[in-house]
Amino acid sequence: MKSTESSSELHEYLLQNRDELLSQITQFSELMNRYESAIKEVYTKLEILKNDLKLHAKRDCITAIHTRIKTPVSIIRKLNRKGLDINLNSIRNGLNDVAGIRVICSFIDDIYMLADKLASQDDIKVVAVKDYIKNPKPNGYRSYHMIVEVPVFFSQAKENVRVEIQIRTVAMDFWASLEHDIKYKKDIVDCDEIVKELKDCADTIDETDKRMMELRDRISYI
Ligand code: GTP
Ligand code: MG
Repeated sequence: MKSTESSSELHEYLLQNRDELLSQITQFSELMNRYESAIKEVYTKLEILKNDLKLHAKRDCITAIHTRIKTPVSIIRKLNRKGLDINLNSIRNGLNDVAGIRVICSFIDDIYMLADKLASQDDIKVVAVKDYIKNPKPNGYRSYHMIVEVPVFFSQAKENVRVEIQIRTVAMDFWASLEHDIKYKKDIVDCDEIVKELKDCADTIDETDKRMMELRDRISYI
């Protein structure tokens, strides 16, 4: 009985606010299209760099590029977490990672070379950088994060859209992916032993990344 009442109330609400709701859905779709378009712009830049770097370095500096758009549910959760109102302005001004790109590189120095090449492109504005390679998180997480703004030309206007770019090595990505899976399956925050072991793995991976870079340089001189 109660659910019938609430569903008829919902039906009534939807009918009364139909125009306003349709307008909000349209505006939300337009905003998401802006983020998707910005991802395409940055993805193309990365693809061009990937191919050009391969021609010059004779190896793959970039091994993979992944993209994702934050889902509406994740957007709402993050706005709530940050104490922001649920509206389009909050998304636009309060969230930097609605559009996300992850770039996987072969070696640590490829990451910095790529970040420099991106930052020096004159239509890219670097808004923020977090270098979790030079300053790893206490849990061992390593990655280079950039928030950039890229201009996108739409039919009515040009808009500068924010994209989060995470750049990391294959090894860092292996650790982050597994740590993410393990962490989100169980609450390990309080389990010191597992936290310590994950950190040890991250440090071993970092050491291996550095050794691989040294090996690459030694081999290149033979
Ligand atoms: P979020 O609210 O999670 O987006 O973090 P933030 O806005 O403080 O930014 P930060 O640069 O610290 O992290 C952004 C993203 O990096 C996260 O959404 C994850 O994808 C990744 N990340 C950050 N810390 C960790 C970590 O400890 N483990 C893993 N696996 N990923 C992480
Ligand atoms: Mg995020």
